[in-house]
Amino acid sequence: MTILINKINDVKNNVKIWKQQGLKIGLVPTMGALHKGHEALIKKALEMCDKVVVSVFVNPIQFGPNEDYDKYPRTIENDFSICLKNGVDIVFAPSTDEMYGENNKLSNTDLTFVCPPYNIVDCMCGKSRPGHFDGAATVVLKLFNIVSPDFAFFGQKDAQQLFIITKMVKDLNLDLTIIPCPIVREQDGLALSSRNIYLNSEERKNALTINKALKQIENLYRQGIKDTKVLFDSAISVLDKNIELEYLEFRNFDNFDKTDEIQKNTLVAIAAKSGKTRLIDNIIIR
Ligand code: PAF
Repeated sequence: MTILINKINDVKNNVKIWKQQGLKIGLVPTMGALHKGHEALIKKALEMCDKVVVSVFVNPIQFGPNEDYDKYPRTIENDFSICLKNGVDIVFAPSTDEMYGENNKLSNTDLTFVCPPYNIVDCMCGKSRPGHFDGAATVVLKLFNIVSPDFAFFGQKDAQQLFIITKMVKDLNLDLTIIPCPIVREQDGLALSSRNIYLNSEERKNALTINKALKQIENLYRQGIKDTKVLFDSAISVLDKNIELEYLEFRNFDNFDKTDEIQKNTLVAIAAKSGKTRLIDNIIIR
């Protein structure tokens, strides 16, 4: 049975009972608009845990003033059906008041925020989205405190978020394990995203070149080319001319430092706009 819960205390009460029974708890944090990528996280969680909580919360403090907070798809009925079909135990869908208090004041002059190190939050996606990762890390820590999971499941698609959350868990000695899950793609290579619904067919077609650019890098690396400048230029030449590149970066996924030479565990990450829609994608060289 899947139950929908809106109140923090109701989740905590269920969790208390599960803990007394010695059950392993998994958390899949989401902002809803669930797609096959989320379903893969849910399936992994169900495989590894006795009880699974999926949180559905469009978190206002991780959106900038000119971002798509108001427009972000909210599809709780469909999200609930997906969770029900998969056998999730709890769908936790709190209101903003429930998460941040009535008349919620959402700035860092009113609210305690998690501030991950600036060198990993101010680069890549953080450059164009100031405050985004502080907001994401803050809500994730709140969710961890509410659900007390043994395992929490994050997609590799948001590789920077995955790195930041994994580091937060380590730095703050949180008693849980982060399970990274591979990117789920459409057959043509487009990484699944809740924002893909904004793309018209032309923009979607152009967006496919984002993944092509990453594949180009991987292929050249397999042929022995490691110099990131050469790889960058070659990848850019693959991008459709209507794609507006925000960044294409090469970082060591052990410490998030930039690297001039690709090697094992290098993150190659891209953010670009197709039309008005901002998309991200990446590969990690294994
Ligand atoms: O990746 C997301 O959907 C969000 O950043 C998360 C982790 C659910 C926090 O709001």
